[in-house]
Amino acid sequence: MGFLTSPALSETGYVVLDRHDQAADPAEWHDLEYVGWRSSGITRFAPLASHAGDVECNGFWNHTPPRTDKDGVWIASQVAKAPTLQARALEPGANVGRCRVIELQPNTYADAIYNLHQDDNNRLNTDGTGWVVRAWLNLTDDPDSLLILRSDRFDPSTEIRLPLHAGSRIIVDTQRFWHAVWHRGPEPRYSLICSWTSGPELDAYLAAGHADPHPASVDLPAALVADAQAEMHRRIEERRQAFEAHGIVMEPTESLYS
Ligand SMILES: [Fe+2]
Repeated sequence: MGFLTSPALSETGYVVLDRHDQAADPAEWHDLEYVGWRSSGITRFAPLASHAGDVECNGFWNHTPPRTDKDGVWIASQVAKAPTLQARALEPGANVGRCRVIELQPNTYADAIYNLHQDDNNRLNTDGTGWVVRAWLNLTDDPDSLLILRSDRFDPSTEIRLPLHAGSRIIVDTQRFWHAVWHRGPEPRYSLICSWTSGPELDAYLAAGHADPHPASVDLPAALVADAQAEMHRRIEERRQAFEAHGIVMEPTESLYS
């Protein structure tokens, strides 16, 4: 039968929409409650919707009863502070799973490459229903920062680099792509992240935003990329040895993040 997917994402697996004009939006993300959670880089999260409406970020499949990344329960204390952000998550009319604001501290390109991971949004998802994809709605203006996507974690020739201007909207099949953000700038970066279920509602939202499956990718110096590759392999080996010292076998492709 297969999952219901978005035609707009079928060609490349990611699209960039017109930028959302958020100049008139209040800076709601400053007032939210943030919690630590494992992810790529030094991050904190402010969940808006979670498994049961609590201020926590665990995957819905790690709770009792477990479920896939759908039907997120809005957290009353958080959405009271961020009604505009909640409205933006609800705008497509698609089912919303996990929804949170991420705060990412500045990092290096090598950090980002080491942090590349795939998401697990469709664990427990039911065949015949909508495939869960991930949206990044950038809140701060980070034109020098890049969302990095790779179809092959270890192959930089598969890398796509998308700039994160204020109001940028990027939708990605994050179970297909390895991804992380290289954030350049003196201040933390804030982005609204939503798990959205594919279907006619999401399709209409993507069409209205002129979803582009071929956005320009930013070039980087070859030496920077080569150095980051070497550093990634060095850190992975370092981690493998650290785990081995504790009797834990770690696959080289295993990711720390979800
Ligand atoms: Fe992710």
